[in-house]
Amino acid sequence: MAQITPMLRQYLGIKQEYPDAILFFRMGDFYEMFFEDARIASKILGIALTSRGTFNGEKVPMCGIPHHASKSYIARLVAEGKKVAICEQVEDPKQSKGIVKRDVVRIVTPGSLLEERELSEKDNLYMASVAKASSCYGLAHMDLSTGEFRVTEVSEWEEIVDELGRINPAELLLLERDGLQSKEELSEFRLEILDRSSFNPAKAEAVLKDQLGTTSLASFGIEEMKAGVVAAGAIVSYLQKTQKTNPEHIREVVPYRPGEYMFLDQATSTNLELFRTIRRRSEEGTLFHILDRTLTPMGSRLLKKWIAYPLVNLKTIRGRLAAVSDFKEDLLLREGVRKDLDQIYDLERLNGRVALGRATPRDLIALRNSIEHLPSIKAHLKGSASSLLCDIAEALDTLDDVYRWIKEGIRDDAPVTLKEGGVIREGYDEELDKLIQLTRGGKDWIAQFVREEQARTGIQNLKVGYNKVFGYYIEVSKANLKAVPTHYIRKQTLVNGERFITEDLKNMEDQILSAEERRVALEQELFDRIRRRIAAENRRIKETAALIAQVDVLAALAEVAELYGYTCPDIDESREIEIKEGRHPVIEQALKEENFVPNDILLDDKEQEMLIITGPNMAGKSTILRQVALIVLMAQIGSFVPAAKARIGLVDRIFSRVGASDDLAKGRSTFMVEMNETASILRNATPRSLVILDEIGRGTSTYDGLSIAWAVAEALHDLEGVGVRTLFATHYHELTELVTTKERVKNFNVAVKKWQDKIIFLRKLVPGGTSRSYGIEVARLAGIPEAVIQRAGEILENLEGQDMDEAGRPKIARSKLPGSTQAVQLNLFGIHDNRLARWIKELNISRMTPLEALVELDKMKKFVDEQGT
Ligand SMILES: Nc1ncnc2c1ncn2[C@@H]1O[C@H](COP(=O)(O)OP(=O)(O)OP(=O)(O)O)[C@@H](O)[C@H]1O
Ligand SMILES: [Mg+2]
Repeated sequence: MAQITPMLRQYLGIKQEYPDAILFFRMGDFYEMFFEDARIASKILGIALTSRGTFNGEKVPMCGIPHHASKSYIARLVAEGKKVAICEQVEDPKQSKGIVKRDVVRIVTPGSLLEERELSEKDNLYMASVAKASSCYGLAHMDLSTGEFRVTEVSEWEEIVDELGRINPAELLLLERDGLQSKEELSEFRLEILDRSSFNPAKAEAVLKDQLGTTSLASFGIEEMKAGVVAAGAIVSYLQKTQKTNPEHIREVVPYRPGEYMFLDQATSTNLELFRTIRRRSEEGTLFHILDRTLTPMGSRLLKKWIAYPLVNLKTIRGRLAAVSDFKEDLLLREGVRKDLDQIYDLERLNGRVALGRATPRDLIALRNSIEHLPSIKAHLKGSASSLLCDIAEALDTLDDVYRWIKEGIRDDAPVTLKEGGVIREGYDEELDKLIQLTRGGKDWIAQFVREEQARTGIQNLKVGYNKVFGYYIEVSKANLKAVPTHYIRKQTLVNGERFITEDLKNMEDQILSAEERRVALEQELFDRIRRRIAAENRRIKETAALIAQVDVLAALAEVAELYGYTCPDIDESREIEIKEGRHPVIEQALKEENFVPNDILLDDKEQEMLIITGPNMAGKSTILRQVALIVLMAQIGSFVPAAKARIGLVDRIFSRVGASDDLAKGRSTFMVEMNETASILRNATPRSLVILDEIGRGTSTYDGLSIAWAVAEALHDLEGVGVRTLFATHYHELTELVTTKERVKNFNVAVKKWQDKIIFLRKLVPGGTSRSYGIEVARLAGIPEAVIQRAGEILENLEGQDMDEAGRPKIARSKLPGSTQAVQLNLFGIHDNRLARWIKELNISRMTPLEALVELDKMKKFVDEQGT
């Protein structure tokens, strides 16, 4: 066996335990990486790969980074799909005999990247976990930074996928035995597979109970959730393994059922552009962006949740609407509360950092400054007319004690770190006050010492300085060296002078330094005591933060309503939707000069349950569809809506589908995606749902597409014998004939006016179908060259004739335009010859009187004249 240094032996021992992480091995002021880790990290981080020592006769690859700059390096490695195990020196090198003890203190993973990256204030950072049981799936998710921890169970795999879409976890834990890692739908997530040996259901339950500090999961209402408990336990166990601490603020888990909320699948949320636009994937241009007038980070995050989970409970929705209404009407209330909200920091995350033991002095100051505004908010809300706001006022804990602890203990000007003291207020602790006196006295002593030495030696520019190498020293310039007394001990020669120490100076130095050291240590201890005291109250702080978030969202919705002229919707249990002068919340704001044209919509369960909407390209069909869906969604989160009046019969699910949207990333063809999504509507829609179909069927050949569109429309109309409210925009004009066979179908079109060669978009939805698409006119507007437009017009005409010409060529190819190479001979009857030919063929001459024959011949002549050939 080759020689191996003790350090390397220690390294290899630790590395063995963390084979799947990059090990950051602390050496003094650096983190060093070795072997394969060094190769990988140096490449990702763009730092030099060197070597240190040898192992089995080969050089050991090594790279290193300074520990004070580690955060950004860690963040980059994690972003590249790595985990980072941070190994620190866990004893003071001065005290240790032989090699310093080292241990991994934390493993940084995508879902626990709390300090290394600027966390986006508006987003939660979730880790989620899915576990499979015989008849269902369990899903848990947790935000370590706020302590939110929720669990659910669903029976269908599809629901898991949709729910994961809403949660959008940074990291997804799966259990090896479930074999879910091969599911294609999960390929976009960062997966972490917990292996069989380290995890099983019994362990999950034990770990969970232990974390929650309970002997029975019944108190959280999750004892029946077998798969849910496994999923939740997996998260806790993974956290304990990676964080090396028990997160104190995770003391409850909240069960929920997706059925308590409006069902919004991934495709719908994407199509409605709730959080991201489809093309740019930006936040601007989304419903969230329009509604987000919140003033606190937790308010912003809660609004996201409200949009992702609209309500289906009439009473709760009305409660929220009443609160928004009150905030909207009562300007004093709204402005008063919002002024206070504006001063409140991220209470949830401050609380999380306190509980995780990572709060800085500044964090506590921010906490205190936030708490300071709670009584004023409470007082404002107490007088409100809304019962929801009054309930919040009642429940709001103003955390007076926490405020006092910080106020009394922490200095207003406390620094960011605890390294240098200056954190704890004077008068807070007697012992500390003494030490502070001593350090201050020491400084006075030095000033005095300088004056005395100057007088005694006559050296006017004698001064005392301090450095880390030899502490306090006396500095004398070259010119005055002759006057230096003999008891000065020379320490260092400089270009311009020399440095000395004396015994007195060293004695005092010891006293000052030890006082300062003790002071810093004591401050750290006192700070930690305050922090722990607050951490013990984390549940109260969390509840307060949650209430403040609610107030923030409600007041923000009122602000938006006022700003954009929204009105309060009526929500009832009918199956109707009636919107007067509805607008699209996003597009109306995007149109600056041009004014948005409002539209009325009525859907009921008697005569017009399904609207077939036709109209030219660019007319505004998709806009109307989306605006109806958005208005319904807004109403059910408790927001006012962009309409003069809206009456919404409660909707349990919204399905929004756009034909032929590309999904190449997921490796499915456009048409396949479209059909998958349509299939899911047919399976999941109920008579209470709202279905928005935008050109479904267009991703395939015309006849196939039309047939599918028709059949889907029929199926929705006949759903459970009562049908489902549906808006169907289409360019298949044939669909307008559905009214003749299905009783609750109505045709509408978005009106345009043709003026000379141009079309004018009126943007008005009017009854009746259309028979033209004006696609070519729109193409002209879009800047397609005129020659191409002309040719397209000609082809269109050909198409509207018959399939083949008399020469057997495809009719589409014919041309009359100059320069055409097509040498198709046009016969006497021009393009309408076939119709005429068929006409003649079908005549039964032998049964006709001469007069009848003449009349028929006259008709033919007129027909030919009309066609102008
Ligand atoms: N009510 C309206 N008022 C003002 N502008 C509107 C209105 N509706 C739509 N628009 C404008 O017209 C554009 C096109 O609308 P939209 O995409 O809804 O048309 P479309 O009928 O679905 O067209 P296509 O058939 O090509 O899909 C919108 O981006 C918007 O700028
Ligand atoms: Mg459209």
